[in-house]
Amino acid sequence: MTEELINNKDIYFPSYLGTNDNLIILLNRATQTLCNWFSKAEKHGPLPFDENFNCIMPEQDGNSAVDLFSEIESLLNNSFNPVHPGSLAHLDPPPLIFSILGDLIAAGLNNNLLAYELSPSVTLLEESLCKWFAEKIGFNDSAGGIAASGGTLSNLNALIAARHNAGLGSDPNSVLLISEDAHSSFIKCTRIMGLDETNLVRIETDNKGCMSIPNLRKTLDICSKENKKIFAIVATLGTTVRGAIDPIKDISEICKERNIWLHIDGSIGGIFAVTSIPIEGLNSINKANSITINPQKIIGITKTSSLLLVSNMSTLENTFSTGLPYISSKKNIINRGEIGIQGSRPAEIIKLWLGLRFLGLKGIEEILKSSIKRKDFFIKNISKNKYDIYSGPLHIVSFLPKGLMPKESDSWTKTKINELLKNNFMLSRPKFNDKYYLRVVMGNYNTNESHIEELLKLLDA
Ligand SMILES: Cc1ncc(COP(=O)(O)O)c(C=O)c1O
Repeated sequence: MTEELINNKDIYFPSYLGTNDNLIILLNRATQTLCNWFSKAEKHGPLPFDENFNCIMPEQDGNSAVDLFSEIESLLNNSFNPVHPGSLAHLDPPPLIFSILGDLIAAGLNNNLLAYELSPSVTLLEESLCKWFAEKIGFNDSAGGIAASGGTLSNLNALIAARHNAGLGSDPNSVLLISEDAHSSFIKCTRIMGLDETNLVRIETDNKGCMSIPNLRKTLDICSKENKKIFAIVATLGTTVRGAIDPIKDISEICKERNIWLHIDGSIGGIFAVTSIPIEGLNSINKANSITINPQKIIGITKTSSLLLVSNMSTLENTFSTGLPYISSKKNIINRGEIGIQGSRPAEIIKLWLGLRFLGLKGIEEILKSSIKRKDFFIKNISKNKYDIYSGPLHIVSFLPKGLMPKESDSWTKTKINELLKNNFMLSRPKFNDKYYLRVVMGNYNTNESHIEELLKLLDA
């Protein structure tokens, strides 16, 4: 019976009648396959990729479920495994169990966040969850937000709204100010916005990796002398290489003085703002016009999960609304395809909502605190005589043996990365201020102190 159902190739879609026995069996098989992969992580290491991995393309006839399950297994066995405790390279933590379920439900639901009539309940869910976040970070009633597929898109939504709001939509003299340690995707955002790289002005950072306020003031004066019109200043709440936080309070005061839109790129650190973990700058984020929060990067909401929150929802409506002539509208309900760049969009909000509902504020705080604790343990025990260490208040550390020249840093980090991977530790190798560094991101809940001790021993060897 089971084999018969699993091999039935005439069933393409879920049935609106009957029991969907075939789908249930397939889902059970998929769940088993996925869970086996999780359980084998220890044996296979964080990055078990075979260069001969074969991608088989669709053929004239469709393939059987048995073939497809074997291909799914091969795909999994050649994939980066975020649940492995040695997966410490990037901002890609293990997936939260309830978030995996959310992805499954969203796929089955196949609703579309473009319009209320295509996703009534999920539209309200996204609106309400954005409002919940907005309230948590201290925005008032006119605030809200929109989900987008990743931090780059959330930031882009914000920058386009900022430029539109400043009345500089097509002005080639409009500029954006970021710190020199801000994420590289701002270059992409500038290009997409039809601006040139000279319209992206970088402010120096201090020795802690935070935007220098004297340098910001100097740059603002130069911009005004050169008749450059600033449409936004971006403060980074957690830089990619060392988790530094720009001086948000000072930047917000400058933005207020000069009537400039403040955007906070909180892709890494923004989620800390819903907890009571004391981190400098967090209590000023409600002074911003917009903030990106990317729960995919640290608490394990499955990718992609990113929100842009704005202090005033009308700024998004004014910027993006065109009218959707083929879609019905309802009084007081915003079709969410009208407040951001994306049109059709999946119900990604479900996995965020389920993940947060399951964790509660206590669970979120526990995950975040544990990542800081692992970072502190690593820093406490790494040899300070041997390494220069770059870190901030968050869970990211970059480091390099003292005294290495740029070329030596390139070869040392390459060798070390490979050596560590052979011992089942995956770190990353960011380039920063002309040198390469090793970076650990301590967002993996499966990593414990004995794993970190083992890593430190390898670094000491
Ligand atoms: C600070 C910061 N901003 C933005 C991004 C871009 O986010 P995404 O990769 O989700 O588009 C990243 C990615 O790591 C980041 O570290």
